[in-house]
Amino acid sequence: MKLNYAKKTPGKDKLDALTLLMAENHLKPPTGLDAPLASALKQGIALKEFSGKKGESLTLFTGSKQIPRLVLIGLGKPDELDPESLRRAAGKTVQHLKKMNVAKAGIWLPELAGKVPAGDLVEAVAEGASLGAYEFKQYKEAPDAKEKPSAELKQVTLYEPSGKGGNKAAATGLMRAGAVRRARDLGNQPANAMTPTQLAVEAKSIAKKHGLRCKIIERAQLERLGMGLFMGVAQGSRQPPKMIVLEYRPPGAKQTLAFVGKGITFDSGGISLKPGAAMDEMKFDMCGAAAVLGAMDAIGAAKPKVNVVGIIPACENLPDGKAVKPGDILKSYAGKHVEVLNTDAEGRLVLADALAYGIKQFKPDAVVDLATLTGACVVALGHYATGAIGNHDGLMERVTGAGRGCGEIVWPLPNFPEYGEELKGKYADLQNIGSRYGGAITGGLFLKEFVGDVPWVHLDIAGTAWGVKRIGHIPNEGATGVGVRLLLDLAQNWKPL
Ligand code: BES
Ligand code: ZN
Ligand code: ZN
Repeated sequence: MKLNYAKKTPGKDKLDALTLLMAENHLKPPTGLDAPLASALKQGIALKEFSGKKGESLTLFTGSKQIPRLVLIGLGKPDELDPESLRRAAGKTVQHLKKMNVAKAGIWLPELAGKVPAGDLVEAVAEGASLGAYEFKQYKEAPDAKEKPSAELKQVTLYEPSGKGGNKAAATGLMRAGAVRRARDLGNQPANAMTPTQLAVEAKSIAKKHGLRCKIIERAQLERLGMGLFMGVAQGSRQPPKMIVLEYRPPGAKQTLAFVGKGITFDSGGISLKPGAAMDEMKFDMCGAAAVLGAMDAIGAAKPKVNVVGIIPACENLPDGKAVKPGDILKSYAGKHVEVLNTDAEGRLVLADALAYGIKQFKPDAVVDLATLTGACVVALGHYATGAIGNHDGLMERVTGAGRGCGEIVWPLPNFPEYGEELKGKYADLQNIGSRYGGAITGGLFLKEFVGDVPWVHLDIAGTAWGVKRIGHIPNEGATGVGVRLLLDLAQNWKPL
């Protein structure tokens, strides 16, 4: 689907459908709307078929050959409008259009009289529409014709007659959505396609696109560096592990951010094997890595004034004659020994080495890691908030604020040291699991042992990275690309802590 921006009314354009985004009880036809469309709109409203409430939608047949359908999408109360509700409405619009027999459609942007600045409005609608149009259908070459409407939605034009928001805002929205779509693609690929080696190829292609530095640290070097936790997880797989390091360094930047993403391309649990049900979903265990790669793609395009390093420990977690076993003791890059009591708690092992390495190597001013770390986080928060653990209130506020801005809600979890007591090892400095309860917290506190005093926030995206039910621009199945826009916003608004 192609998305265009036009500083005009639809005029003489021939469209299969035109959408009006309308706030509650602000139902006047926009100036310049053709007479048959305006009269269809008035009739729909007079018959009380539509009032602009949030989530409402209505299709009207206009009798016009030029634009036979008018689609109304409700935005809700004007005072409650914000960019996220606009993104959701735009995503819903595209979904609605896709279910109809339309190929060419338009969205007439509303005049919201200062509720949301015009640039933000155009950006949000472009972003939401592009994200809402996302599909992963690479492996569906012979779609069932009966399920599909006969036309495919090919083109959507955003009409903004005032031109106040402008083409640049639309391009920004599309760029942001493009990076999220890329992260969704990475996540949705099956584990036989998206191996650690392939993740490294993707990283190199993003680096090339934006002129970023990209280094892939191979197994022999990782062993020399002493990344015993990462190597311990990787040793049960035939796929070689890769530590991916991407660097964005704009001229004159003084501060450095490090973004670290869990890149387990398949998590079987290892010798502590997972049950069979839904094990296929563990191809999504690299969604932290996907978020970091998507963010680096967006950062390369948006060019914020801060250095950003993206670090991804990528490997598979499989059972094998050589695999790490419960009770094995591994030596971390940081020097601490870890007793592996459950080989399925592998994310914290690979991240511990990646965090310690990133902090030593790049001396970042702040670190954020993203990981599908614990099933316990899904139990605690469900699918609509990312869990967070950190060691610095200021950075936590930045991260939760960035989340609110882009609609990716982050919920801090308590980091009391009492929880961490459970991680003291019987035979080694640490063990990799706590007791049965509070697992999202102990998972995060394990990582805290490896970050020292550097401001750090860990984001557990186990609930938000996939398996969310559709809301507007969020897909009904598969990877969501959560984290990409949050990291981008954090970098773009960065000031020293
Ligand atoms: N990748 C999983 C976490 C996960 C599970 C994410 C289900 C999303 C849905 C992680 O590696 C894992 O298996 N964690 C264990 C930790 C436990 C052994 C302490 C878990 O959550 O069960
Ligand atoms: Zn696991
Ligand atoms: Zn895992």
